[in-house]
Amino acid sequence: MNPGNPADHHANPGDDHGKHPRKLIFAPGDMEVSTPNDQTTPIQKLDLAATLAPANVSRLISEALRSETSTPNSVMEEQILSHPARAHQFVTNPPLTVSQMHPTNPLHQFHTWFRDPRLSASSAPETCTLATASLPLGRVSARVVYLKELDERGWVVYSNWGSRQGKGAQVFGTQTDADSILGAMPEPEDGDLSEGNKWAALTFNWGTTERQVRIEGLIEPLSREESELYWRTRERGSQIGAWASWQSKVLWSAEPASLIERRRKSLAQDVCPQVIPGDVDETDIDDGRALLEKRVREMEERFAGAEQIPLPPFWGGVRLVPESVEFWQGRRSRLHDRFRYVRVNGGGDSYIWRIQRLSP
Ligand SMILES: Cc1cc2nc3c(=O)[nH]c(=O)nc-3n(C[C@H](O)[C@H](O)[C@H](O)COP(=O)(O)O)c2cc1C
Repeated sequence: MNPGNPADHHANPGDDHGKHPRKLIFAPGDMEVSTPNDQTTPIQKLDLAATLAPANVSRLISEALRSETSTPNSVMEEQILSHPARAHQFVTNPPLTVSQMHPTNPLHQFHTWFRDPRLSASSAPETCTLATASLPLGRVSARVVYLKELDERGWVVYSNWGSRQGKGAQVFGTQTDADSILGAMPEPEDGDLSEGNKWAALTFNWGTTERQVRIEGLIEPLSREESELYWRTRERGSQIGAWASWQSKVLWSAEPASLIERRRKSLAQDVCPQVIPGDVDETDIDDGRALLEKRVREMEERFAGAEQIPLPPFWGGVRLVPESVEFWQGRRSRLHDRFRYVRVNGGGDSYIWRIQRLSP
């Protein structure tokens, strides 16, 4: 095993799973494969075994604890490989040609696709993935967020940007008061926005219309006034929640050994109640949620008399100002249509959007 190779980090001693990791999901179509009758899950076995002698209890518990390692066996793999519809086909749309694309502005093109009547509100088409990267390592992280606004400059999302543990530090840097846990969001007119990595990407995937939009560009903070406007639309509970949460800070952690021991006791109680006294409730054990609830109570007290809860300094909107925007539409045989707008200098301070067709 090479400790420098991330692929080796999950290898167990004595097996070669580092090189040939066991499959947990084997796409495509493995969900359609029926489970043979004899494949009862370890938990079901445990229920059935509830009346067994205590001598068998520890073996049953070990099986239950191994449940997360259960994998498709070779019989299932054969069934999967013979499955008739192995690859999903994209068939919904007629071909996408450049004449259907907005000639000058990808934001208008995005607006047209976003407003497609086939996208229902219940499918939450505003759901997107925001990717950012740390400096200097270039380590990337991505998370789902909601698009809240599209304006003529770019795509706007709201979050907590003060946390030193989350995307805030990646985007706005870690320079902050050494003692403070949360840094304030910078104002757009702040002279020094150079810290951190402002490059980011936002991706939308709309299954119903078989379309994807990918935006890459630079993040800029909204002004406090702009963020304030959206903040006012949030219900009081969410405002309290924003104040209470040091987003992405670790609230609690444990080593696997102590968790397994805890689970062992809990399972033993089910199978063999006399092992653990009846008044011990495993769900009582604090896993960090209590600290968050305490913070919520503190914030409720702090703002008890306030008619309007103020916008936290670490919370607000950012705008992704695009450098490139790609529109992808699925087609049969993976021969999809892809058009990308790339921002190029148009002379002086102006810019124009060049349109390119990309190979699928
Ligand atoms: C459907 C969905 C919508 C979300 N919307 C937001 C959002 O608008 N803003 C936000 O900060 N986090 C949102 N989250 C939570 C983020 O995915 C993420 O957990 C959080 O922003 C912390 O990310 P970080 O640790 O990278 O800073 C959403 C999660 C889901 C599943």
